[in-house]
Amino acid sequence: MDYYYQPPKVELVQYIAINQKSTKYEKGMKKETRYASKIKNQKKSEEDIKREVRSAYGNAAKGKNKSKCSSNNCCGGSVNPDEYAKELGYTREELESVPQSCNMGLGCGNPQNIASLKEGEFVLDLGAGGGLDVFLAAKRVGPNGRVYGVDMTPEMISKARDNAAKSNYKNVEFLLGEIEHLPLPNNSVNVIISNCVVNLSTNKKRVFNEAFRVLKESGRIAISDMVALKPLPKQMTENKELYSNCISGAITINELKNILYKVGFEDIVIDQQKESRQFIKDWVPGSDSENYVVSAKIKAIKPKLKK
Ligand SMILES: C[S@@+](CC[C@H](N)C(=O)[O-])C[C@H]1O[C@@H](n2cnc3c(N)ncnc32)[C@H](O)[C@@H]1O
Repeated sequence: MDYYYQPPKVELVQYIAINQKSTKYEKGMKKETRYASKIKNQKKSEEDIKREVRSAYGNAAKGKNKSKCSSNNCCGGSVNPDEYAKELGYTREELESVPQSCNMGLGCGNPQNIASLKEGEFVLDLGAGGGLDVFLAAKRVGPNGRVYGVDMTPEMISKARDNAAKSNYKNVEFLLGEIEHLPLPNNSVNVIISNCVVNLSTNKKRVFNEAFRVLKESGRIAISDMVALKPLPKQMTENKELYSNCISGAITINELKNILYKVGFEDIVIDQQKESRQFIKDWVPGSDSENYVVSAKIKAIKPKLKK
């Protein structure tokens, strides 16, 4: 049998660079190398965005005014978080029942009103921040239930854990991690809630794949998040400030429906909250965001597996 020398990829690329002429195989290799470098650049920019988001919310947790992420509302953090939370549908009683510093005015809706939580349920909050929705959910599911909050920003997790310890919550747990790689086992929770977080992910399909994995059969998602009313112009999608402020990472309702459907969810409902226009216009004044994005209630069910 003839021995055929297969050069390693790097050597081959160098060979092509020196000799210019390319065979069909070499052209394929060039294409592969270009593809690999495209993926590498894409990953790099995803990591850059994540770093920006983490830094913005690290500052928000520390109460620093470095960006809008601690001066305005929602992903901006409110000067009066309780007033803003009431606009989102939280009641005064709810807000008085949780540790004060857990509400930083970072949400864009109220997942508690969507989730219909029941006693004994296991709940996961994606991007829990200071823990507002985790603490409220903990009350609803009671001592036989449990609520996990996942967040990738260490300052947020520290704040939430401090709050939980000071107020002696027994049925909550805050986990440092990314929603694209959930630190929970398969089929472990009944409900996934989230408030203004999935829009910040650069890989929403992965987030919903993970959500599907950790949900039990017949489990549900009940999420408040930003969606786009129409495709966003380039100057918006490339604006880092708008990204961290929960605006330019939003995808259209159809794109989101498509992702949920492909992941395997059923009974998908995405309900625009038109009145959110009122507060969105204050997030980054002058950005025209209120004409491009809207807050939405997002619901879907993980079906029973067919036997
Ligand atoms: C707009 S804030 C909302 C916080 C909280 N849900 C609330 O309503 O107060 C977004 C939160 O999501 C977290 N976050 C953003 N992207 C994330 C990701 N890919 N994985 C985990 N956490 C993320 C941020 O650290 C931040 O705490």
